[in-house]
Amino acid sequence: MSSIPRDQWYVAAYGREIGQELFSRTVCGESILFWRTRAGTGTVTAMSDRCVHRRFPLSEAPSRLVDDQVVCGYHGFTYGADGVCVAVPGQTRVPRTARLKNYPVVEQDSFVWVWIGDPAEADAARIPRAPWLVSPDYTTVSGMEPLKARFELLVDNLLDLSHETYLHGGYIGTPEVAATPITTAVDEAAGVIHVSRHMDDAECPPFYAKSTGLTGRIMRWQDIEYTPPCLYKLHSRIAPLGVLPNEDGSDPGAFHVEVVYAITPETEHTTHDFWAVARDFALDDQGVSDFLAEQNRTVVLQDVAALDVLEQVIDTEPPGYQELSINIDTGGLAARRLLAELAGQDGPAAVHRS
Ligand code: FES
Ligand SMILES: [Fe+2]
Repeated sequence: MSSIPRDQWYVAAYGREIGQELFSRTVCGESILFWRTRAGTGTVTAMSDRCVHRRFPLSEAPSRLVDDQVVCGYHGFTYGADGVCVAVPGQTRVPRTARLKNYPVVEQDSFVWVWIGDPAEADAARIPRAPWLVSPDYTTVSGMEPLKARFELLVDNLLDLSHETYLHGGYIGTPEVAATPITTAVDEAAGVIHVSRHMDDAECPPFYAKSTGLTGRIMRWQDIEYTPPCLYKLHSRIAPLGVLPNEDGSDPGAFHVEVVYAITPETEHTTHDFWAVARDFALDDQGVSDFLAEQNRTVVLQDVAALDVLEQVIDTEPPGYQELSINIDTGGLAARRLLAELAGQDGPAAVHRS
């Protein structure tokens, strides 16, 4: 049985990736064709990337887009932006069943979200938000790295940031991250997991020292908010020692970085790892943007390398391996439980061979 929850919204792409040409991406094992329509407001379409005739990929040359119709490059079946076939070769009658599966799609917060599963269940109001990514009060850098590992390994990784000390030393890791206990809370009604680690006297890692200009020791708060399956947010607060938010919630003495990940299963064993870093300081400083983009991509690739190895280990081990979990794993274990519920599985699943 698949561990991928299906009746869910997933990020398929950044809006900037999709223009008026054919674009394909596999989400939850389904190959999906996108383009931005010429007519109207330039909305993004999402339909199956497999021709109903002999399943030739519609994103593959010589398939092509003619206005807002896609013409299959094999025998010429032609489809509209709604996926309905409008012309076939050699006959005037188009079979009634000649239509591509189309997917509910919403463009929001710089992402293109698609609903996988039963379209009748698609409710755009349930898409979790990441407003900083399009806010004029923030500057954002972002990217996507392909991961040759199941998405659960990335969830595990992001819910337990103690690994920063070891895997990301010299970038975002300092001794205090691993040394400071976390608090974990699950909002069952909202389906959100919160994991917090507040370091009130910590070394400033290069990622924040070079971007904020702070030197010496700092306050560093990490507040994770994960909405399974797809959207992970790390609210990161960096401040000089002893500088606290005001009682009304305003926080002018601190630097804020919103680190957002969209965790999208490509297949059972591969994942699209979307990452974005939004900051509320040095908004127009291209040097800071370049630095944070390069640093965060490096950090993501450190995770990718580790998780690709783990996937191989899990994939080749005999069944029955027992993991050992400790306090740092409470967020990850809560995530496994919620993901298992969303996928319709019984009980909290360990990461297992499949
Ligand atoms: S496979 Fe597309 S028209 Fe034949
Ligand atoms: Fe990491």
